[in-house]
Amino acid sequence: MEKTFLMIKPDGVQRNVMGDIISRFEQKGFQLRAGKFTVLSQEQAEKHYEEHKDKPFFGELIEFITSGPVFAMVWEGDNIIQISRMMIGKTDPIDAQPGTIRGDFAAHKNLNIIHGSDSNESAVREIENVFTDSELVSYEKTL
Ligand code: CMP
Repeated sequence: MEKTFLMIKPDGVQRNVMGDIISRFEQKGFQLRAGKFTVLSQEQAEKHYEEHKDKPFFGELIEFITSGPVFAMVWEGDNIIQISRMMIGKTDPIDAQPGTIRGDFAAHKNLNIIHGSDSNESAVREIENVFTDSELVSYEKTL
């Protein structure tokens, strides 16, 4: 089963849309494996966004993602990386379709509510950056 790292960003937390976002992934049938409400350190933020380190907006991106609490999560499910990116919508809310998280809640490219891993390799790196192995919870649905 595939895992992904999803992170509700400081704007998503402050806009009070965490519950709605989590609901969408629950309703899709994905399983929550871990969650952490935290403020990323500078080091964690730089590691998380290391592929953007040469972009002109890198400094602004790091400043924003460390500016307040985020809700970091690990979710599991078949093809979850591709499906969750579809549910999240395009990076720029101008292109994000209604019905996607960004299409419904975001209005600016740098305030786009949520991050989702774009590949298995990124997911592994992003999960390790925030969670230890023992923080991932596995359980059978019995109720
Ligand atoms: P995310 O999916 O978290 O991955 C990289 C982030 O960079 C992206 O979402 C956007 O929020 C952010 N981003 C992309 N383009 C810009 C930009 N021009 N200025 C600031 N942030 C940007």
